[in-house]
Amino acid sequence: MQPHNVLLLFGGESSEHEVSLLSAKNVIEAIDIDVYNVILGYITKTGQWYLVDSLLELKQDPNAQLQADFASNQFVTGNGDSFRPDVILPILHGKNGEDGALQGLAQLMHIPIVGCDMTASVLAMDKVASKALFKEVGLNVLPYRVHHAHENVLNYTDIVRELGDIIFVKPSRAGSSVGVSKATSEAEYQQAIEQAVQHDTLVLIEQAANMPREIEVAILGNAGTREASTPGEIIPDREFYSYDSKYSEDSGSSMVIPADIEPNLANTIRKQALIAYDALHCSGMARVDFLLDGNDELYINEINTIPGFTNMSMYPKLWIESGVAYSILIDKLLQLAILKTV
Ligand SMILES: Nc1ncnc2c1ncn2[C@@H]1O[C@H](COP(=O)(O)OP(=O)(O)O)[C@@H](O)[C@H]1O
Ligand SMILES: [Mg+2]
Repeated sequence: MQPHNVLLLFGGESSEHEVSLLSAKNVIEAIDIDVYNVILGYITKTGQWYLVDSLLELKQDPNAQLQADFASNQFVTGNGDSFRPDVILPILHGKNGEDGALQGLAQLMHIPIVGCDMTASVLAMDKVASKALFKEVGLNVLPYRVHHAHENVLNYTDIVRELGDIIFVKPSRAGSSVGVSKATSEAEYQQAIEQAVQHDTLVLIEQAANMPREIEVAILGNAGTREASTPGEIIPDREFYSYDSKYSEDSGSSMVIPADIEPNLANTIRKQALIAYDALHCSGMARVDFLLDGNDELYINEINTIPGFTNMSMYPKLWIESGVAYSILIDKLLQLAILKTV
């Protein structure tokens, strides 16, 4: 059998560019080279694509710059070479990697792509849209309001009356906690809105969960065959799981796998994670994140369609706990993508 040509895309335009490089390193080491021929596509922070030979040398050689050619549905390099991968493996986060744009490009070129398709990626990236859909299928979401950047900021007294005096303000379509703030006063509320609108014109204002535990579930599979892992727990090292709490060098955040919760609750969480996955039409993979408050009230928080793949990342660790080794996981993800009609 000819090996499948895999275009592994990494880097990218998001604040998680460096996380992507770490994830890509692990993925490359885990791919079975008898089955897959890996072509590395590095995406710069400003969105240019280059073929590179290794992660160690991220050269931006004009001869190796990639363009999509819709006439032939191939990628063309600066020196005129062309190729068509059998599958795209996006190890990217956020803007133009996880938000549906790249998935749309793959769809236009009729090339299978690992993970969710364009629609699911767009929905999952948009916290306002996904919360509406979660509510629609009967999942518990924290009460919220929506602010549009072109409108007047919602009155603080009304917000407090409706949502309580501890609130979270988030850009609807960002990620990695960028632009997310907790506000406990009017001044902080105004500041939080100002912060959030720097990242998105659509802003979510949400009731804070009371002393929440952060529980995450990994889902693997396409419609009808998808499965949920055992849940894991994130223990942030500061007030909430902020950007620094996730990525700073001195981060003391940790994970508990499996999460220390009652088996009944773990099953409920797994079932709800599958309902959420289906509600957003996810396929391939996703990580579903919940907040479990001090009264054991469970709220779905969000779905991440391209979770981290570093050695330290929750998604692969949850599958290892459920008996799926890292290299098997990557193989399953590639096969799930190849199975889909494009
Ligand atoms: N309503 C909330 N109540 C309590 N903590 C929250 C709430 N919303 C977010 N957080 C905290 O902020 C973090 C980032 O928010 P999240 O909605 O997950 O955004 P992102 O997509 O950037 O990860 C969460 O992991 C959690 O620690
Ligand atoms: Mg999150």
